[in-house]
Formats: sequence, structure tokens, C-alpha cells
Amino acid sequence: MSADAWKRAAAEKAMTFVTPGMKLGLGTGSTAAHFVDLLGGRVADGLNVVCVPTSDATREQAEGLGIPLTTLDDVPFLDLTVDGADEFDNRLRLIKGGGGALLREKIVATSSERMIVIADFSKRVETLGSFPLPVEVLKFGLRATLHLIEVLSADAGCSGEIAVRKTSRGEPFITDSGHLIVDCSFGRIDDPEALDEALKFVPGVVEHGLFLGIADHAIVSGPEGVVVLDAQDLEMANADED
Ligand code: A5P
Repeated sequence: MSADAWKRAAAEKAMTFVTPGMKLGLGTGSTAAHFVDLLGGRVADGLNVVCVPTSDATREQAEGLGIPLTTLDDVPFLDLTVDGADEFDNRLRLIKGGGGALLREKIVATSSERMIVIADFSKRVETLGSFPLPVEVLKFGLRATLHLIEVLSADAGCSGEIAVRKTSRGEPFITDSGHLIVDCSFGRIDDPEALDEALKFVPGVVEHGLFLGIADHAIVSGPEGVVVLDAQDLEMANADED
């Protein structure tokens, strides 16, 4: 099976968590796009749901499929968000934002009763950080913000190249909310909670791509099939090992 087929298999499993009447958050990225596609098929067959997309791209996809959409202003509490991830560890801590949608993704996920991550097995890591951590920042005071990110991240044990994301045409990547993305190539993030705290001290940081304590389940698909991981079970297993 290809990586794309594994992504689709994870999305198919996530569909089994969807029940009629649910208010859903729709993630962003190639894996989440499979879920939106499958959901569109179910809506066409009569499934009654209402959804909040996490990006303009997902909104356009969902609109094209006839999925009923709303906003968090009209529906501030959702039942379930299904989204992809760039990395996740054995405590279901995530790095997200590879597609640049981390701000809306975090707002939608934290407005949801439950969040399910769908991913192929390549996203599972021992230690977060091989994937550069995306950080959404204001354009104002960019150099000062980059400096503070560097200094405070180092205090949290993380150092590496910190680069403003560019498009394929070499222009600054602008998020759906009009901000920049800075990609932090730390290599490894040994203490994600400390880095989370550190980045919160930087006024120019709008949000960062560490999702800690947000995901309830991960649906992971690979050569050994589709596995559903539960954050609480993993927490208990990790505590037993300590
Ligand atoms: C979007 O900003 C990201 O958080 C995506 O959820 C993440 O990059 C996963 O994308 P893929 O499913 O395309 O790997």
C-alpha cells in the first residue's frame, strides 16, 4: 500500500467515530483531505452534520462536496475534530502546521470535545522535533521576534535554524490569518512543555505548532494495519514504565 492509501485507511477508520447530528472540526492537509472527501460521500447519502473548517483550503473542499459549514461564532462547541499531524509521540503530543494552518487548527481542536489525529505510521516518533516546528508570528517586529524565539527556545533546551517560511516563488508564506510562519529546525524537542511555556513569552508569537494534551486518539495506519491509540491508555502505560 502507498502512503496515500494508508492515509485514506486512517480516514476511513475515523469515519466510524462520526454519528448523525455531530458538530465537527475539519482538519487541513493531505490526510485530513481524505476524511473530508469520505465525509462528503456520507453527506451526499444523507448524513446530517455541520462542520467548521480549519483553513480556506478545507473550506473550499468541503463546500465543493456540499458539506454544511458553520463558524465557531455560531457554534462555539464542537463534538469532534479530525485532523492530521506532522509528528506525534507516544503521549500523543503533536507537531502541526506543516501546511501553515496551525492557528485555526488549534482553535478548532481546543473547541472540540474530542480530537482524533489521523496519520500514516511515518508520523510516529520517539522524540518530537525532526520535523521543523512551525511557529505563526506577526509581521510587525519580525527580527525582534526571531531573536526572542531563539533565546527563549535555547533556555528550553532547543536550538537550530529558525527560518521564515517561503513559498515556492520565494515570497514569504502568509497564513489564512495574514501572519508569517517561522520553521524552527530543532532536531529534537526533549521537553515540549518547557518549549511551549517559553514560546508563550514571545509577544510576536501568535501560536505555535506544539499540540500538547489536545489529541484524545490517534488513528495510525501502516503495514501492520490500522491502530487506534488512546491518550489516556498511553499515559497510564507511560506512567507504569517510569
Ligand atoms: C496543516 O497545517 C498541518 O497541521 C497538517 O495537519 C499536517 O501538516 C499534516 O499534513 P499531511 O496530512 O498532509 O501530512
